[in-house]
Amino acid sequence: MSETAKIELNGKMYEFPVVEGTENEKAIDITKLRQETGYITIDSGYKNTGATLSAITFLDGEEGILHYRGYPIEQLAEKASFIEVAYLLIYGSLPTQAQLDDFTSNITKHTLVHEDMKQFFEAYPAKAHPMGVLSSMICSLSTFYPESLDPNRSPEAKNLTILRLLAKLPTLAAWAYKNSMRHPFMYPKNGYDYCKNFMHMMFAMPTEDYDVDPVVVDALNKLLILHADHEQNCSTSTVRIVGSSQANLYATISAGISALWGPLHGGANQAVIEMLEKIHNDGGDVDKWVLKAKDKDDSFRLMGFGHRVYKNFDPRATIIKKACDDVLEKLQINDPLLAIAKKLEKVALEDEYFKSRSLYPNVDFYSGIIYRALGIPTEMFTVMFALGRLPGWIAQWKEMIEGGEPIGRPRQIYTGATTRDYVEINKR
Ligand code: ACO
Repeated sequence: MSETAKIELNGKMYEFPVVEGTENEKAIDITKLRQETGYITIDSGYKNTGATLSAITFLDGEEGILHYRGYPIEQLAEKASFIEVAYLLIYGSLPTQAQLDDFTSNITKHTLVHEDMKQFFEAYPAKAHPMGVLSSMICSLSTFYPESLDPNRSPEAKNLTILRLLAKLPTLAAWAYKNSMRHPFMYPKNGYDYCKNFMHMMFAMPTEDYDVDPVVVDALNKLLILHADHEQNCSTSTVRIVGSSQANLYATISAGISALWGPLHGGANQAVIEMLEKIHNDGGDVDKWVLKAKDKDDSFRLMGFGHRVYKNFDPRATIIKKACDDVLEKLQINDPLLAIAKKLEKVALEDEYFKSRSLYPNVDFYSGIIYRALGIPTEMFTVMFALGRLPGWIAQWKEMIEGGEPIGRPRQIYTGATTRDYVEINKR
């Protein structure tokens, strides 16, 4: 007999099925809980809630394992291209050469954005945070492609929107940066690959070409792969829940970008560098800042430390730490922030407070230092994360839509005032 879970409520026993995943993860299926018992569950922050069954990404936080569609992240980061990984996540298998060529050429065809969108950029203040600009621009794409408003229109229309998003996000991201500098926009170069083209749009000028270093392209490719998906995190859950209302994909991804922006999520990479700069400018006394992080009366946290799911180590951080050393050595950059980061990591990892709470460096602890080495400004770091995460968001949305999942709509336990009569203002 298959495993079940029993709940006893008011002397009555209820039985619920247990679901097991392909990697032996187990869950109690409470789909019928309210219907049968009248009760719901409370799980603030969804720490114990499986919102869906998913065949995209597997991660084991205790063992530090991360797989995309069964492939270990270490192998993909070492050997694959970001576009290949995007194909894998979205369509479920590694592409053949013909499929990859076709996918690449289809993305390349759509890299331009409508010229009218330039006027939107011009209307933003120069100091506008690029994440705010990007989120709005991605949502605005829906107004140029009204056929995308119905996400179920046809498989071809759905795929066209996916290709457009993959093609246009780098253009819009680079233009957000150019606009913040009040520099002229650089048009995409379709002869370049995805990463090289992005660096070209970021750093070339109409007056001079930007010679893209292959070391930079390789590092960017690796970083984007490492960020490409991470199962049901805050922004991905946002994407799935917004998409479940049948909102169009542009609006849905725009919501994901907004969720990613927060410093407890993708915004941590910017916050890490700002923290390292602060420690550096303050004289580099790492112990002082570790003490602050442990002080419950101090709101300071060590940014880039801790993770909701990884409680041993973040496998992405291990790869990034090595990539960071490689890039800085190859580009011959001596960044004092790297020395502070390493010292901070060492002190924190030996400290009882961090050990007892399983707080380890996460993916964002070292990624910012690589982005700095590549010349990416700090405010663009979370935009870089969004570039990497896009295929994951799309894959998760596609799985949700094609799986016919119902609209996401959690319940609550009400704790407010009980029924009372309205009192007119002059009698209050
Ligand atoms: N510095 C100091 N203390 C910390 C930190 C930190 N970075 N992270 C967690 N703690 C402490 C908490 O104060 C809490 O202590 P307590 O048990 O004494 O109250 C304990 O560790 C557990 O922390 P929670 O906030 O309950 O853990 P949760 O799983 O809810 O949060 C999170 C995880 C948001 C990542 C948290 O560790 C954090 O704020 N880290 C810093 C921000 C960061 O790097 N975010 C990026 C995450 S990776 C990503 O999204 C791509």
